[in-house]
Amino acid sequence: MKSRYEAAKNVFVDSIDIDDYIELSSSVTAYKQLEHSMEKPLKMILLFGRPGTGKSILLNRLQEKLKHQKEIHYFDTPATNEKEFFHKLFKVLTKQDLPANTEVNFSALVNFCKNLRGKREILILLDEAQMYGSEMMEKIRLISDSRAVKFVVSLHKTDDEDLIAKEHFQSRIWEVIELKNATQSDQTAYIHKKLLKKNLFEIANSIKEKDMKLIHAFTKGNFRECNKLIFTIFEICEYYDENEPSKINYEHIPKRIIEMAALKLGYIHV
Ligand SMILES: Nc1ncnc2c1ncn2[C@@H]1O[C@H](COP(=O)(O)OP(=O)(O)O)[C@@H](O)[C@H]1O
Ligand SMILES: [Mg+2]
Repeated sequence: MKSRYEAAKNVFVDSIDIDDYIELSSSVTAYKQLEHSMEKPLKMILLFGRPGTGKSILLNRLQEKLKHQKEIHYFDTPATNEKEFFHKLFKVLTKQDLPANTEVNFSALVNFCKNLRGKREILILLDEAQMYGSEMMEKIRLISDSRAVKFVVSLHKTDDEDLIAKEHFQSRIWEVIELKNATQSDQTAYIHKKLLKKNLFEIANSIKEKDMKLIHAFTKGNFRECNKLIFTIFEICEYYDENEPSKINYEHIPKRIIEMAALKLGYIHV
């Protein structure tokens, strides 16, 4: 028989599925900030935060919510080269396709954008912008100067490098919205709501407040780390469920299993 933990485990596979979006107090705040910033005459808005804080899903949410009211486009992983990027941009702006091997004439594209001013307003959501080079960012800035194209730029925050301080990310036209790791109550809501969405009520109830505290301590409230830890916890539960059911308590996830998962992921060491 299939273990009930298999379905629970799969709820926490890291992915960006807009149907799985959950309203959390932090994401609602960030969303409102974004919406508000977009109404201002800013050319660029910066969405900033550590990997796993929910930047990509927030951009996807924005696109999903506004796609019927605005010209809005989500660019996920940056094109590996400039040519590819400007091809994509050309297509979005002109609503025409270019033959694959033609080069976009950049100054013509800028002029095209200037002519759009007051006629169209296009919103481009650029994910993973830390991967764009400075030359590319400068060109993106020139396009945004047309005021017909606005950019929401998402950027990873890292320990060793202050990316915002980099010249090409620094300018007064930016408004910065920062996403932080989740609080314990937001993380608890996240875990419960994800399980409840899949009707896994019993399993949701088997993770108690104490366990949530422990999970938050291990993951520091980072959503990606949280996904990994919960996935591993259920993976271990699934194993016991199928092989040694006496070691499982369906009413309460044993603390031992949470610790085993934390050990496996390197949050704790023996
Ligand atoms: N509000 C939310 N609702 C649902 N899932 C979320 C939410 N916030 C974060 N996640 C999930 O957490 C993980 C990390 O989020 P992601 O947007 O990929 O972070 P980032 O882009 O900052 O690295 C993803 O699996 C994502 O689906
Ligand atoms: Mg991302």
